[in-house]
Amino acid sequence: MTTKFKTSVSVLALGVAMASGSVLAYQEGDIVIRAGIATVAPDEDSSLINVPALGGDVAGTGVEVDDDTQLGLTGLYMLSNNIGLELLAATPFTHTVSAKGLEGYGIDEVADVKHLPPTLSVQYFPMPSDSKFQPYVGVGLNYTIFFDEEASNDVEESVLGDTSVSLDDSFGLAFQLGCDFAITDQLVINAAVWKIDIDTEATLKTAGAGLITVDVDIDPYAYMVGLGYKF
Ligand code: NI
Repeated sequence: MTTKFKTSVSVLALGVAMASGSVLAYQEGDIVIRAGIATVAPDEDSSLINVPALGGDVAGTGVEVDDDTQLGLTGLYMLSNNIGLELLAATPFTHTVSAKGLEGYGIDEVADVKHLPPTLSVQYFPMPSDSKFQPYVGVGLNYTIFFDEEASNDVEESVLGDTSVSLDDSFGLAFQLGCDFAITDQLVINAAVWKIDIDTEATLKTAGAGLITVDVDIDPYAYMVGLGYKF
């Protein structure tokens, strides 16, 4: 061996040692499980509340939906070195739906509803696979299931009386930005934001005024911050 060749081999060996030592690598076949705090913040827009007993749409009405924070989980599977498939899951979110324009009837809060928003996204990781910083963009499909809808005391103590509430499930697109930052070979810090198209129709079956309906585009931002582990 020439000295020059020996030096080249040593440099190559050092390079391989460094590459396999302290850097995170996202590669085809990798699985990353992340857990953290997830907030769903509705950016809602609603139709007028439709009350056939009052002649149809009631002017000046609408609904608002508050935020909720739960435990979020995402699982990422790398289909290639740059493309991943991610599933978002969470413990059920609970939101309070409030009415606008029904103060005259003594109604502020309308219902509490729970939902699960599983979202399956395809993600693109533009950085080289050995980068510690792995930002990504994603596009996916969301299916939101509403359950445990309960009419508020405001509603049941009003002229509406006994009321049952149901919200249609929603199927729509989700867009996402996020990033993983490697602390060790296995551990990452993660932050992600989704904009999710969630549209539903809420139906109230009331004892006092029959059916009441309102279309709600909830279209929330979802935020998650947490830790991930690469298997
Ligand atoms: Ni929408």
